[in-house]
Amino acid sequence: MVCLGNICRSPLADGLLLRKIKEQGLNIKVDSAGTANYHIGKAPDSRMIRTAAAHGTPIDFLRARQFAPHDFDNFDLILVMDNSNFQNVLRLAKNHKEKQKVKYLLDFLYPNQNQSVPDPYYGTQDDFEAVYDLLDKATDALIQYLKND
Ligand code: 4NP
Repeated sequence: MVCLGNICRSPLADGLLLRKIKEQGLNIKVDSAGTANYHIGKAPDSRMIRTAAAHGTPIDFLRARQFAPHDFDNFDLILVMDNSNFQNVLRLAKNHKEKQKVKYLLDFLYPNQNQSVPDPYYGTQDDFEAVYDLLDKATDALIQYLKND
């Protein structure tokens, strides 16, 4: 799961998927990263931690890191939150196979639309709630896809 800072959207997507994988007894490795280096080593944004916890999804234990080219070796899917993440991650891909791993997370919910998860960082509590709702639905759709894979 990749966003810009790895403190709002991608840690939530990471935590949601981790919880659902555990609940369903699946064996899938999940991690998240940011394309930027601003917040390396930091816990998720406290507003995102609170919103996620209120919905039963712990994310406080996650720590931000920057996306790196070796992530293409370690993961089958690189799921980005928005168009800017998509461009930044694609730029680090070395070949066609790596490029094909990069997908918009929301395409699992709204296929072929390349929709972006809005960045709540400068937003209100309602924006954080809206991101939770969207990522909850998107990770449900992703779990369905992974189970059929
Ligand atoms: P994220 O949100 O990409 O969902 O983690 C942001 C977090 C921090 C910043 C921007 C977006 N920032 O500019 O510091």
